[in-house]
Amino acid sequence: MKTKIFNTDKENLIEAADIIKNGGLVAIPTETVYGLAADGLNKKAIRKIFEAKNRPMDNPLILHISRIDEIHRLIKEIDKKHLEILSKLWPGPLTVILKKSEIIPDEISAGLDTVAIRMPRLDITRAFIYLCGTPLAAPSANLSTKPSPTNAQDVFEDMDGRIDAIIDGGASDIGIESTVLDLSQDIPKILRPGFYTKEYLEQYFEKIEIDNAILKEGEVPKSPGQKYKHYAPNAKVIVLMGDDDSFRKEVKNILSSQKNVGIMTFDNDRDQYDNENIIYMGSKNNLSTMAKILFKSFRKMDENGVELIVVRGVEEKGLGLSIMNRLKKAASNNIREI
Ligand code: TXA
Ligand code: MG
Repeated sequence: MKTKIFNTDKENLIEAADIIKNGGLVAIPTETVYGLAADGLNKKAIRKIFEAKNRPMDNPLILHISRIDEIHRLIKEIDKKHLEILSKLWPGPLTVILKKSEIIPDEISAGLDTVAIRMPRLDITRAFIYLCGTPLAAPSANLSTKPSPTNAQDVFEDMDGRIDAIIDGGASDIGIESTVLDLSQDIPKILRPGFYTKEYLEQYFEKIEIDNAILKEGEVPKSPGQKYKHYAPNAKVIVLMGDDDSFRKEVKNILSSQKNVGIMTFDNDRDQYDNENIIYMGSKNNLSTMAKILFKSFRKMDENGVELIVVRGVEEKGLGLSIMNRLKKAASNNIREI
């Protein structure tokens, strides 16, 4: 199949919406990462997503909606207070898990009795969902295990010939996925840390817990997706935890003994190393740049033929928790204290 690239003009969106209505696959921009969308109520279309991505069938999908009212037919019930909070946090990088209604296909929920729902922030995404007239199932638009795509070109690399079309809406603002918050239990629980941090969500919810599996190894995660290897570039990844000086020393050690090394560090490391492949990820005091370019940087390192990527690790709090969650998976837990 030939994969079409659309821009965000109305005629293009209408043509892309027709593809969805006919059971096809269209990659869509969102504020977090690009998604691979299909009609979320059409079983056959949903199965195509799993095939195109090589995604295990036991990993459930998020349904994307364009207006908050659309949530009601997809779920059994929602606490009134929670609905009010959602009306403040949506549209945005937050996915909620609720008990599902009968109309949710098993292919969406992977056999669970819950469903994941999100209303994306990017206007063009919501306009597109609205045109499709159905909730859109959309996992990140990468091949399974690869870094999530944050622009149309990265989607094309993974999905050319595997999907009907890509809507090019420019680079994703945020760069890492939404926070997955389970509202199906008494106390809201973060199942996947994302752009909205625990601290941020605590301004809205009385109490928030974090799934143990995110904090500790060896626990069984409640979100099926968390158990898979993920986000991995072809190059080997090592994450170094330590202060500026020990990081610099260790990187210089590695550079003296190995070839084709790529470095991902912060702006205050400029002019420290004599190495071709270095990506600076903004200030270490504001991790939003690191989040934004993390996946893109992995892909760039692969393009440049890097064999080992050395990344400066960050403290596991706030956005740092979400970033380290991705880094640990990308590095297959190759994290070193220095
Ligand atoms: O930012 C995002 O969330 C992006 C954009 C495209 O919206 N989407 C995304 O989807 O990251 P995906 O499929 O790559 O990740 C969805 C995560 C997986 O870890 C999955 O296991 C979890 O949400 N999930 C989905 N339904 C669930 C459910 N009913 N219970 C627990 N976890 C669920
Ligand atoms: Mg994903």
